[in-house]
Amino acid sequence: MNLALFWGIINLENMTEINLESLKIEAKKELENSSDLRQLEEVSKRYLGKQGEIARILRSLDGLPKEKRAAIGKQANDFKNFINLKIEEKTKELKEKSGRGLGSKEWIDITAPGRKPSVGHLHPLTLTRRKIEEIFQTMGFSIIEGPEVENEWYNFDALNIPKDHPARDAWDTFYLKNGMLLRTHTSPVQIRFMEKNNPPFRVIVPGRIFRHEATDPSHEFDFNQLEGLMVGEDISAANFKAVIEEFYRRFFGKQVKIRLIPSFFPFTEPSFQVDMSCVNCGGKGCPACKHTGWLEMMGAGMVHPNVFKYAGLNPKGLTGFAFGMGLERLAMMKYKISDIRLFRGGDLRFLQQF
Ligand code: DAH
Repeated sequence: MNLALFWGIINLENMTEINLESLKIEAKKELENSSDLRQLEEVSKRYLGKQGEIARILRSLDGLPKEKRAAIGKQANDFKNFINLKIEEKTKELKEKSGRGLGSKEWIDITAPGRKPSVGHLHPLTLTRRKIEEIFQTMGFSIIEGPEVENEWYNFDALNIPKDHPARDAWDTFYLKNGMLLRTHTSPVQIRFMEKNNPPFRVIVPGRIFRHEATDPSHEFDFNQLEGLMVGEDISAANFKAVIEEFYRRFFGKQVKIRLIPSFFPFTEPSFQVDMSCVNCGGKGCPACKHTGWLEMMGAGMVHPNVFKYAGLNPKGLTGFAFGMGLERLAMMKYKISDIRLFRGGDLRFLQQF
């Protein structure tokens, strides 16, 4: 046997043994120090991969005698098994740790039932207002708005309700320290609009109003009205009746009868109270209509010439109708709500029904 080769074999043999021992220690350390799955993958590649340490050792066995080859091959295999086992353990440990660390943030359990996102929806008064606006818009009315804090001129004087006139008592008013007030109705917006626009026109004014009143199932101190105003030449009470009847038919989705009863408002002449046949019983009589078959729905009338004048328009040859209705009342009729205070009570059991 060639001596050099002999020594060479001895050397390779010794080297392999030393290498395997120190490799094992090194690999163990590297595996233990791996702090995530990617690092672990790298270590695995370094030892078990095609170009890895074990493959290198196995390749170097070629020149060795059979028994030696078998012995070192076995050691290399043990080493391989050792690393595989360690990697398996470490993988499990890292996975558990990452699952725990991320908590519910990223840990996906694909078998868990889905979580339903809670979706909000519109308040019944918003639904009602939008429906009303849509109906009037298709009849050629524009939607306008006005301020909730008003002065006495717009809220009263310009509506033909002078200071000290007893009619002011009909509107229990919140006065502010600066001489302003919280509007008691949406009618002042009639004046504000007519100051800036020439007839013919048709508008509606949805808006919040305030009354100094005690609350009960049918009264609030802070509620909403819907004002209407149509002005031009030859506008008559018959036009009013047709518009309102059509509005109710579309709003309630069925034919309703209305009747006009003489009434008084300083800003209209003549004035009417508008009653509608009870949508609950169809006019037969029930608790909702106090067994009369009729529901009082709004105030209305033909615009008083003084109102045109106060708004800066020449009343000559000018006619128009105006009306004002409670938004809550309409919503209560449509959805069969028995207490006006529910709208602002914030009770989810009520609100979630819409
Ligand atoms: N503003 C009145 C109120 O709050 C309702 C009203 C009556 C409005 C007659 C009108 C109308 O436009 O013509 O009680």
